[in-house]
Amino acid sequence: MPLITQAVIEEIKNRCDIVEFISTYVNLKRAGSNYVGLCPFHSEKTPSFTVFPDTQNFYCFGCGAGGDLINFVRKIENLDYVSSVELLAKRAGITIKASEEEAIAARKRQRTLEMNTVAAKYYNHVLLNTDEGKPGLQYLLSRKLTIPLIRHFGLGFAPANSKELINILRSKGYSTGEMTESYLAKVSANGNVYPLFNNRVIFPIISTSGNVVAFGGRVMDDSKPKYLNSSDTPAFKKSKNLFALNFARKTGSERMILCEGYMDVISLHGAGFSNAVATLGTAITPDQARIFSKYTKNVVICYDSDEAGQRAADKAFTLLGEAGVECKILAVQNAKDPDEYITKNGPSAFKNLLEGSLSEYDYKFEKILSKYDLSNSENKIQALDEVELLLASSYSSARRDVYISDAAKKFDVKPESIKSDVDMLIRRRQKAEKNEEKKQLLVKTSGYGDRINPDTAKNLRAVRAEEAMLGIILIHPEYLEELEKNGNLPTPDEFFSGFGRKVYNAILDIYHNSVFEESMLGEYLSSDEYDRIIGYKTSRKMLTDNSVEVFAQCRKTLNEASERPGLSLRELVEKKRKELSDSINNGGKT
Ligand code: GTP
Ligand code: MN
Repeated sequence: MPLITQAVIEEIKNRCDIVEFISTYVNLKRAGSNYVGLCPFHSEKTPSFTVFPDTQNFYCFGCGAGGDLINFVRKIENLDYVSSVELLAKRAGITIKASEEEAIAARKRQRTLEMNTVAAKYYNHVLLNTDEGKPGLQYLLSRKLTIPLIRHFGLGFAPANSKELINILRSKGYSTGEMTESYLAKVSANGNVYPLFNNRVIFPIISTSGNVVAFGGRVMDDSKPKYLNSSDTPAFKKSKNLFALNFARKTGSERMILCEGYMDVISLHGAGFSNAVATLGTAITPDQARIFSKYTKNVVICYDSDEAGQRAADKAFTLLGEAGVECKILAVQNAKDPDEYITKNGPSAFKNLLEGSLSEYDYKFEKILSKYDLSNSENKIQALDEVELLLASSYSSARRDVYISDAAKKFDVKPESIKSDVDMLIRRRQKAEKNEEKKQLLVKTSGYGDRINPDTAKNLRAVRAEEAMLGIILIHPEYLEELEKNGNLPTPDEFFSGFGRKVYNAILDIYHNSVFEESMLGEYLSSDEYDRIIGYKTSRKMLTDNSVEVFAQCRKTLNEASERPGLSLRELVEKKRKELSDSINNGGKT
């Protein structure tokens, strides 16, 4: 049974116009009866993203993203199906009844948060008010934290060999299963229940809505693992939270500081830089980069000075840049991380560093220069080569011109010579990209490496036939009724591929439970899978004949092909490669 009713979807579609809605994200221009714009789901220079007001659908001829309003929201807001429907319903002023399943999930989440609150209070109490908390307090003080700072962050201590937390939670009615699912307890092989954190200093992670969503726990000596962090729980996703964002977002500062560790952040806040945050023991994720873009326009990346930290900084530059955040980098010197730097040199020294933080280009430029001795001409040429590669790697042409003239001065060469080298590198790269595209096309036409439907390459003919069938059903869902009436409705196992069966089963499930409504497939399929079937529909629509007879023909092809598998994968790839190279040799004409 689908969770969201067809009535809700219908109402959303009545009240929200897809063109109007998408216009708030994409600059759309009229093209005949449709609208086009630059696709928000892949980078392109000429618009292939098309919105069809008649059918209230969108489709990108570049990357294949497509579907209705709900799938658009799903992709652009990175939400699941149900949340996307909720978002649209909210905008349209429609209330949906929280279904049972949702209610269960909400309750689980709520109970995890309650347990976390109990645990956080307990840890904090142990740290500040008990004898068994003394080792923890001593440790934190030795790290130069003050009591007010410890209180501010609600730090705590999980005492050694104590089952007290388990007993407290149990007395409040939480089950062992709930505790383990929330990463507060673990069960040993012989069935004993222990607190997950043992003899560790505790760093609570607090969401922007003020809930304790997870914990990090640090050992007080050199034993391993240094930190233990909660994994994902019903109330927490590591990849979508940042440590201290609850404080940092309130500073209203136009920039934020991104560090690697909890201790770095706490030190920085203690020194007055309360716009510092950290990821939770993992490299920055695209979700986290998007979170930054919600709160600030500028981020200063302030990672550890070791090589791993600097490599991680490269990734942060890329992801934050993609999320539209301007980045600078600050490299601490003579200290392994910002915490150590501040403890050694004090806040005002750090403030100077912050003011001197470098743009991505300057940082990479300086890094290249530092590797070479420019008084040696061989070295100088190598350095210039690297700088040219850097210049060719991205940047707008205006920026590039500025950088080129700076580099020309630094290397004492003519800007024109750098420019012509860089232009050549860019052309070479574009050519390589074209070749890559060709390779992708080959992969696409042979079905080889198809991640959504891995069965494609096993029997291309069968899969193409079932794709056509699915496309036709999506265009004419009324055929289902007609086929059923004649006792001729295909069975799911007629479909060759696992994916085809999955889609068809979903179609039948919706059809048998309510009126068939394409959007409801979103509940059964991932957003990429959904794109794929919209592709089937879109390509069928370009053909004029989608009659029941054509459907029957495709079905026959499917049945024949399933009995008599086509070429082997290798033969297929060979054949396609040959076709493709023939077509390229013919200047694209086949
Ligand atoms: P200190 O050594 O106490 O100064 O810690 P730090 O805050 O400077 O952390 P560090 O730079 O060593 O590591 C950065 C972050 O990575 C930490 O804050 C943790 O979130 C995470 N981390 C570090 N060590 C481990 C580990 O052993 N396991 C896991 N899961 N995460 C770790
Ligand atoms: Mn540190």
